[in-house]
Amino acid sequence: MSLPRDKDYGTPVSASDNQITLEIDGFQVRVPEGTSVMRAASSIGIEIPKLCATDSLEPFGSCRLCVVQVEGGRGYPASCTTPVYEGMKVQTQNDKLAQIRRGVMELYISDHPLDCLTCSANGNCELQDMAGTVGLREVRFGYEGKNHLKSEKDLSNPYFAFDPSKCIVCSRCVRACEETQGTYALTIDGRGFDSVVSPSQHQSFMDSECVSCGACVQACPTATLIEKGIVEKGQPDHSIVTTCAYCGVGCSFKAEMKGSEVVRMVPDKNGQANHGHSCVKGRFAFGYATHPDRITKPMIRDNIGDPWREVSWEEAVDYAARRFKEIQGKYGRDSVGGITSSRCTNEETYLVQKLVRAGFGNNNVDTCARVCHSPTGYGLKVTLGESAGTQTFDSVMKADVIMVIGANPTDGHPVFGSQMKRRLRQGAKLIVADPRNIDLVRSPHVQADYHLKLRPGTNVALINALAHVIVTEGLVNEDFVEARCDTREYAKWKAFVAQERNSPEAMAAVTGVAAELVRGAARLYATGGNAAIYYGLGVTEHSQGSTMVMGIANLAMATANIGREGVGVNPLRGQNNVQGSCDMGSFPHELPGYRHVSDPVARALVESVWGVQLQPEPGLRIPNMFAAALDGSFKGLYLEGEDIAQSDPDTQHVHAALRAMECVVVQDLFLNETAKFAHVFLPGSSFLEKNGTFTNAERRISPVRKVMPPLGGKEDWEITVMLSNALGYPMQYDHPSQIMDEIARLTPSFAGVSYAKLDQLGSIQWPCNAQAPEGTPVMHIEEFVRGKGKFAVTEYVPTTERTSSKYPLILTTGRILSHYNVGAQTRRTQNVAWHQEDRLEIHPHDAEDRGIRDGDWVGIRSRAGETVLRALITERMQPGVVYTTFHFPESGANVITTDNSDWATNCPEYKVTAVQVMPVSQPSQWQQQYRAFSERQLDLLEQRTVADA
Ligand code: SF4
Ligand code: SF4
Ligand code: SF4
Ligand code: FES
Repeated sequence: MSLPRDKDYGTPVSASDNQITLEIDGFQVRVPEGTSVMRAASSIGIEIPKLCATDSLEPFGSCRLCVVQVEGGRGYPASCTTPVYEGMKVQTQNDKLAQIRRGVMELYISDHPLDCLTCSANGNCELQDMAGTVGLREVRFGYEGKNHLKSEKDLSNPYFAFDPSKCIVCSRCVRACEETQGTYALTIDGRGFDSVVSPSQHQSFMDSECVSCGACVQACPTATLIEKGIVEKGQPDHSIVTTCAYCGVGCSFKAEMKGSEVVRMVPDKNGQANHGHSCVKGRFAFGYATHPDRITKPMIRDNIGDPWREVSWEEAVDYAARRFKEIQGKYGRDSVGGITSSRCTNEETYLVQKLVRAGFGNNNVDTCARVCHSPTGYGLKVTLGESAGTQTFDSVMKADVIMVIGANPTDGHPVFGSQMKRRLRQGAKLIVADPRNIDLVRSPHVQADYHLKLRPGTNVALINALAHVIVTEGLVNEDFVEARCDTREYAKWKAFVAQERNSPEAMAAVTGVAAELVRGAARLYATGGNAAIYYGLGVTEHSQGSTMVMGIANLAMATANIGREGVGVNPLRGQNNVQGSCDMGSFPHELPGYRHVSDPVARALVESVWGVQLQPEPGLRIPNMFAAALDGSFKGLYLEGEDIAQSDPDTQHVHAALRAMECVVVQDLFLNETAKFAHVFLPGSSFLEKNGTFTNAERRISPVRKVMPPLGGKEDWEITVMLSNALGYPMQYDHPSQIMDEIARLTPSFAGVSYAKLDQLGSIQWPCNAQAPEGTPVMHIEEFVRGKGKFAVTEYVPTTERTSSKYPLILTTGRILSHYNVGAQTRRTQNVAWHQEDRLEIHPHDAEDRGIRDGDWVGIRSRAGETVLRALITERMQPGVVYTTFHFPESGANVITTDNSDWATNCPEYKVTAVQVMPVSQPSQWQQQYRAFSERQLDLLEQRTVADA
């Protein structure tokens, strides 16, 4: 038996406040003006047959199955395209309507394969359901006439199949691609009987512009577009709602299961971050969870040159604890530390920092957010008082002006990127500040009003120039500033940005952006209605990352674009739980809830629950840990879910630091790059194998639910509990809900959060406490969290990483849609079909100057190191700037990034590295060494001694 489908009202909800009363089949119904007759009927349980209508798409009116009769009206209108009116009387069922519907179905079925029993959609097919609903018993036209039954299948997409013989040309797929996804990859080609669905210009799905989001598959009412998982495994028998483990959008999914096997992941219509939409990663790229590379037995070894030994959980954990204690005994309390991961749940992260602070007795805990959004934490805390974005994603639908700075939402945050594009198609204006021509600058029906194509490293100069225009042209909302902000700080900032040296004209030489563009963009932002800023790692991963975050907050405060829907300052978090890992006290200077370790009140509260005395001094940040390892004072590291050997800058330095340690404990799914330097490997569990919560970029805490048993036998939180107990600091939890209860006790912004409330509400945006028992969608409404908003003077200080005749180009890095972070997960899925290697994007002029042709191997040399990639010549780049992704370890993108970092938070300056690029014929020396080391480590894994069963 297949799973029940979600209720489908046929057409979208109307936002009107005006209520209309009508009568349907003798029943009175009251609905908002603009509602369709179909939806109004559905709202009182009368389901009118339908095929081309579905409530995620605008009505189309092509199938004519949904006809009704309206008293006093002519003919038989389609109920999906007919809006209600006051006093309307509708009949949805009579002999004539039944006859029309049967006639429609006869036509469809006469051109449809009658292989229902062997069809993959059997039991979950709307066409099949409708044939039953309208009472179709025979097909008078026969099946011998002209038909599409022999049309060829397109199996090119790795995840879904297209069988045109089953297509009823309802256009739901085409409309889903346009309205939901915004890619416009599909058309209906031809007319009448010859109409067929066509990806791009008669291409296969794989060769077309399709980005494999799955929206068309989701919308298709037949088996024409269907997941290969369903074709291969059959219909699922149960489903569990959980949260995507990939990016900071935090999409909600139904894991549809057969036993403990995931058959497909279906975006949840009730998901408050995604409303039923998905991207290729969350929708399809879950195969890594059961990939043969998964390590499911704990392993230990004394030296990294030794083969691994599989051992029991107890032996592995006792070994790790013993070595940590020995190290602390020999080198002191502060010689060990831990790193939490934004890929892990809140509960797991909380436990790791608790283990470090209480079990190790120091504050040497840090997180991967150090290398991405730590400047967001710092900059927003200083200016607004809270280290988090201010809005919901849905707020973008009320924005009139959208400014995107250093972010590429269609690749990095695809579901939100689609939502943003929807708002842009409705007419919102767009300002993009980015060195590259990202897709948003120009894509179907979207065109940026301003593209400020700045030079990498000049963000602060640009934000000051924008502020200069706002201040000197009288565009500041003085009433807002007077009422809501610290006016002394404002006066200082105003005097600073008003200086001529900050004008767009003066800064043009620095940023490379023409002054009139900056002036136009500033005026639009300040006067165009609700203006919202979205930013990403192109803002934070700079030597002035924190300054830029403060500059963004300044701009929002000066123009009163904060504290209501449609506006705000919105960091787009890269990984699924970056927000959560920061909230949970992963930074060495902060306890959960961003309270400084030196705060005696906060410390006393935590001490009373944890039963230990905490250190009042901040511990080591990740780069300090590396430095201390190299100078011999830091010897032991516990990493849960983080692959610093690949993700952190200046790879050779990181590798040297890892080699210098005596006990590296890696808890992960695979033998990742860091695990190749480890002494203890503890098999982690994927998001499908555990309970917990993730917090997305909107501060939305969403449930993660165990849909299958952990392959290694333990959820990650259980492993941390074991390790802590072995270290001598007892932890006792039976379920992650108890960990959340402890978090709620200790963290004011989580005080009202519990699993019971999450079950009730689906998700919760913190702060959730007595003042806001159901959470806080928009922050800083009446006043800023810090009281008065604080303007910060943002002096532009050029990075020390300069181009020179030896290193004349700037390298900047980023990611692409099909891969995620270090790629450890997505490289083990069929997403490699889209991206099998990292390439160096280079402008045609720079390529020509160097004699580089597309696809040539090129050496990229910086002051830190050298690596070799294949060139991709593209005008997306501006001359003088090259770009690459960092999803494959052998690419060595971080071999060339330097150890420059943000002045306030040490966030690495990934986005600016001066390089030279030249054609070469062989891999770099580092790559050759890496390959040898990596192969040796894989051999040692292969040679591991196997534990007794
Ligand atoms: S998978 Fe997404 S992008 Fe591709 S055709 Fe379908 S809706 Fe369009
Ligand atoms: S592929 Fe499916 S959704 Fe698209 S037109 Fe055909 S039946 Fe309709
Ligand atoms: S947008 Fe992000 S959270 Fe949503 S499905 Fe894609 S990767 Fe997952
Ligand atoms: S469902 Fe209304 S015309 Fe197709």
